[in-house]
Amino acid sequence: MERKQWIIEKRKKAEERYDMIFSSNYDKKWGYIEEKHEKLVKEFIKLIPHKGHVLDAACGTGKYWDILKEYNLKVKGIDQSYEMLIKAKTKCKEYETDKIGLQDIEDVNVFDGIMCIDAMENVFPENWVDVIKNFYNALKNEGILYFTVETISKKEKDEGFTIGKKKGLPIVYGEVAHEGGYHYYPEIEYVKNILKNECFKILKESISEGYHHFLVQKN
Ligand SMILES: C[S@@+](CC[C@H](N)C(=O)[O-])C[C@H]1O[C@@H](n2cnc3c(N)ncnc32)[C@H](O)[C@@H]1O
Repeated sequence: MERKQWIIEKRKKAEERYDMIFSSNYDKKWGYIEEKHEKLVKEFIKLIPHKGHVLDAACGTGKYWDILKEYNLKVKGIDQSYEMLIKAKTKCKEYETDKIGLQDIEDVNVFDGIMCIDAMENVFPENWVDVIKNFYNALKNEGILYFTVETISKKEKDEGFTIGKKKGLPIVYGEVAHEGGYHYYPEIEYVKNILKNECFKILKESISEGYHHFLVQKN
């Protein structure tokens, strides 16, 4: 299959999988908040002004909203899965939600902070720059972005690439898609380059098992 068409289908499938499979038991299975994630969310919040406006991009079921609620913040959660957003709404009905993809954010100069946790691995290489640009545009000057990049070993990347190619998938290196799902694991240097090109200043980088955390500021 041609890559362009494959990407369209993969994205549609991802939405369906979260709507129909993961949303019902997401909190039970993946609701646990890892120590490093919690620490970084709190560091992110500390950099947001009092009553600041925060976008939780690909918020899922609003896993971090109990933390956000402890602070005086205006929060909007977006996700491409409607069913995940329904779950999020039960955590805090005052928070605005919108069914929209990371690739389709059109806000300009609106948010003091954006957090995007455990979600960028769903973004295709073709869309990475655009998504980072969308975050940049949606932030106010000197706004803060906290996002995670999921990481796997080179051996796992090699395996994913070899198996995917053998199966005839139109994947590029770093993509793992042979088991029905989809993840893209970019090189960290590539991510840093995008941040540099899109005028984000890196405030902090942190590593935990399976994740590279970036706390950055719009320059
Ligand atoms: C692993 S969950 C993480 C959710 C939440 N941020 C958390 O940490 O629990 C990934 C979420 O990203 C959403 N997602 C995947 N690709 C997306 C895209 N292109 N645009 C918006 N949401 C997306 C999924 O629907 C899902 O809710």
